[in-house]
Amino acid sequence: MSALAFLGMIYKRYWGRILISSALQWLAAASIFALLPLVTKNILNTATQTKYIPISLFIYFVALQVLIPLGFRSSHLIMLRFEPLMKHDMANYLLDHLQQNSFRFFQNQFSGNLASKLQDVLINGTQLLETILADFLFSFFGVVPAFLAMLSAHIFFSIFLCIWVVAFFSIPLLSLPKAIRLSRILSESGAQIVGQTVDIISNLLTVKMFVGYGREQVLFRKQQRELTKASYDTDYFLWWVNFWQATSFCIYTVTSLAALIFFYAKNQVTTGDFALVLGINGSLIPVLWNTAEKIRQVIKKYSSVKQAISILLQPPEIVDAIDAKPLTVRQGIILFNDVWFSHDTQEDEKWLFKDLSIQIEGKQKVGLVGYSGGGKTTFTNLILRLFDIQKGKIFIDGQNIQGVTQDSLRAQISLIPQEPNLFHRSLMENIRYGNPDASDTDVIKAAKKAQIHDFIMQLPEGYNTEVGERGLKLSGGQRQRIAIARALLKDAPIVIMDEATSQLDSITEKFIQEDVFKFIDGKTVIVIAHRLSTLQQMDRLLVFEKGKIVQDGTHKDLLNQKGLYQNLWNTQQQINTQNM
Ligand SMILES: Nc1ncnc2c1ncn2[C@@H]1O[C@H](COP(=O)(O)OP(=O)(O)O)[C@@H](O)[C@H]1O
Ligand SMILES: [Mg+2]
Repeated sequence: MSALAFLGMIYKRYWGRILISSALQWLAAASIFALLPLVTKNILNTATQTKYIPISLFIYFVALQVLIPLGFRSSHLIMLRFEPLMKHDMANYLLDHLQQNSFRFFQNQFSGNLASKLQDVLINGTQLLETILADFLFSFFGVVPAFLAMLSAHIFFSIFLCIWVVAFFSIPLLSLPKAIRLSRILSESGAQIVGQTVDIISNLLTVKMFVGYGREQVLFRKQQRELTKASYDTDYFLWWVNFWQATSFCIYTVTSLAALIFFYAKNQVTTGDFALVLGINGSLIPVLWNTAEKIRQVIKKYSSVKQAISILLQPPEIVDAIDAKPLTVRQGIILFNDVWFSHDTQEDEKWLFKDLSIQIEGKQKVGLVGYSGGGKTTFTNLILRLFDIQKGKIFIDGQNIQGVTQDSLRAQISLIPQEPNLFHRSLMENIRYGNPDASDTDVIKAAKKAQIHDFIMQLPEGYNTEVGERGLKLSGGQRQRIAIARALLKDAPIVIMDEATSQLDSITEKFIQEDVFKFIDGKTVIVIAHRLSTLQQMDRLLVFEKGKIVQDGTHKDLLNQKGLYQNLWNTQQQINTQNM
């Protein structure tokens, strides 16, 4: 969706209030730029001719003085009330959409950058409307009554006003393309810096450990220099635009006064007309000046909204088929049929999986082993449809996973990832995420099975303890146990454990395994593990090497074959005996 369509969709919901607010602006503008100068002109003319001013003129004057601020304030009041609602609508829409994005999208984006883009849209999107309503409309509404009121002095002034307004606004409008380009560069380097900062902060420990301050500073300074240059270029350009505007406004006021004197000498204008023309100029010029300034702000805000929207509202990479049905799992048979997959969607040459075919039987317990980088995690990510394959098909119980809804697919699979992230919420909420309907007792039961209950009970606030951002306050092993408890609660028919116990000591791992094995009975299970001894009880092992499954069999079979598994096993055994 384009930025314009997005803003239009949001603004449309408030059109009634926008209309009333604009009408009030129009009332105030007409009063300032036509009625008030006309009343002033009459007061002056009557005063110079009769030395006596009728009370009616006085009353008009007072009425206008009350009406004008009233118009402004009520227009503002209306805006004040719908703006937060508008922000709320935008935030909801964007967050809903954002969550539809693919795994790849989030891997490619700095999360800080996304958050700042969201803020950009909320703040600039509403301010944009406010500027258009309160500044643009107001000046437009001002010029027309001023034009009409000046007719009462001399047609020259009306025409001259028009010519000047056109000339005055041509300056910022002609400079627009360049201004837009400059401000885009500016906002891009700004966003880059925010993303970079977040990245440095989240890797602070790495920076410290590798004494990387200097390197980070070099990188950061370079980007700062780019930002400074972009900001200077923009401001310098705008300075010149302002300069020419000021010049035009100087010419306009001087010519107006000269014309008044000229026409007065010829008896074509009255004393009151001096007040009228000079009065209108006096109030109109600052307003138009302000509007010209705002044009740039509007462009700047619009381009920042546009840039943010182009990222936030990208069409999601992976979408459900139109006729997608929910997945039904009975046995949990997973079938890869001539699957071709490359992480690099641009370059097909870098295939990770080439024509991969394999069937995992229902309720089978399968271990995936092999060197890291062999494709084990990717293999499981494909089952979850976190990436779409380029060729071939993947079936679960005979249903093509591209033909079922993503939600139903993922609802049937419990994933315990290698590095589970936790929400910055309580432990209770984090575990219950596996099943929002679970009672406290169920949560505690799951925590006990995952061997994390005793640890939680030691914490001063027990299950109500808040974990730090991404669970940073817990150790890796503790986070893994929370993730296991979460998966136990989810109780899906297919379970994937990606080095889910890699950060646990072997004793805890053994304890958990006993419970986890009871739990996974009757489910299809895929376990990725580096510690081969943990996979001995598996029905079947698949050995991955550079995207190929090079061996397939039970632990005993593979141990008796010459090959990668035997090598890996022997090496690990040697290390174990050395450690004893
Ligand atoms: N999101 C990704 N984008 C690009 N390449 C990736 C991505 N994830 C993994 N890879 C690459 O795919 C290959 C297989 O990785 P992975 O499936 O994580 O292996 P394993 O889990 O066996 O260690 C590696 O070469 C890795 O660099
Ligand atoms: Mg992996």
